[in-house]
Amino acid sequence: MNNGNLFAQVLKQENRHNPYPLYAQLRETPVSIQDDGTYVVSTYAEIRSLLFDPRVSSDEEKNLASKSGSEVSSSNEHPNQDEFRSFPVYDPPDHDRLRSIVVNQFTAERIYGLRSWVEELVKDELDKSRERDQIDIVDDFAYPLPVTVICKILGIPFEDEEFFHEKSTVIATSADPDPSGQNKRRSKEARSQLGDYLHQHIKKLRQHPGKDLLSAIMASGDLEAGRISEQELVAMSVILLIGGHETTVNLITNGMLTLLRYPEHLERLRQDPDLAPRFVQEVLRFEPPVQFRTRTTLADIEIAGTVIPKGVPLVLMLASGNRDPLHFNDPDRFDPDRQNNQHFSFGGSLHLCIGAPLARMEGELAFRALAQRLQSPRLIEDVLQYRQGASLRGPKHLLVKVDAVIDA
Ligand code: HEM
Repeated sequence: MNNGNLFAQVLKQENRHNPYPLYAQLRETPVSIQDDGTYVVSTYAEIRSLLFDPRVSSDEEKNLASKSGSEVSSSNEHPNQDEFRSFPVYDPPDHDRLRSIVVNQFTAERIYGLRSWVEELVKDELDKSRERDQIDIVDDFAYPLPVTVICKILGIPFEDEEFFHEKSTVIATSADPDPSGQNKRRSKEARSQLGDYLHQHIKKLRQHPGKDLLSAIMASGDLEAGRISEQELVAMSVILLIGGHETTVNLITNGMLTLLRYPEHLERLRQDPDLAPRFVQEVLRFEPPVQFRTRTTLADIEIAGTVIPKGVPLVLMLASGNRDPLHFNDPDRFDPDRQNNQHFSFGGSLHLCIGAPLARMEGELAFRALAQRLQSPRLIEDVLQYRQGASLRGPKHLLVKVDAVIDA
């Protein structure tokens, strides 16, 4: 196959169920230029190097700026200013200023303080399926769990879930490259609606602060001191709500699917639930919820014998790096005993996922409970439909037959 066409193949919905052979072909050329001018980086060492390279920007509007002939700036000027963009797509110094405000409140204490509540939530969600012999792991479990958790963290009423589920599904597809701009326009509109909703929510919290993260940010004095504007706080809450939505669902679903495909591992986990953190780590490497991230170059960058020019779109194929045989021994084997399992599934460097400890905790508690409580779980069929979007990858539904859901 023409190497310049491989990324277009990855984006096709028909290849969603198994993109890994395409990644193996991509790795034959660590940095490959695609027919549309995008540079795709698919090998571990090169991805790592570019994740840490300050000449690589997360702000694709800098790419737009270079196309329209204006100077590619290293500061945060946004030619197409979108008021609900937030720090994940900014570069320093704005990125670091805003990130530190969340990190100061998204503390280990706050996350681990929720552990027994999340454990109880996992139990309650599975209790709802007690009378059933068939479960949809997505709708009945993997979706409601992280959504309820992020709502609690942000102090958002769960009753409004239907509204923001719809918006967040639209926004999630904009993680893919979108030459027509259609997804980006729809995503901008959805972010704006979600932003309006969260703006109202923040106003209410101002009047009646709670124990949630947003109230804590407002109480920290960062707003008054001008370290964050109200608009930036709203945009940040949109990102946290989406981040808490779309990814952990895929972690739990991809994990259960993997365990059903490798029943010997499911049995091992059932017998020794303390292995769950290792399983989470390996599921993240093996079936990453976020398959790739897009970037823009701020300068010519020479890497692996190729010069990536300034101002071009770049794709860091995280999921391919996770399967690079030059870094991982026997990478296509699911092996929770793997040592030094340093994958890219939470990114790396400046943009390393803020929600990683929370997602790991949810994944661990979910896998423990699923392994212990589902009696003889088996896939109804292993032909799955995947949700729209190549970057945030996960099945739409995962139907599982069970003999019973036993009591916790
Ligand atoms: C299994 C679940 C998750 C996965 C696989 C995941 C993956 C990622 C990845 C790959 C990045 C790096 C993006 C980049 O470099 O461009 C990232 C960043 C981020 N994640 Fe997550 N994430 C998960 C859960 C969460 C949760 C639960 C939250 C929020 C509560 C969250 C919030 C964020 C934020 C705010 C960033 C941006 C950090 C920055 O730019 O400084 N994530 N995540």
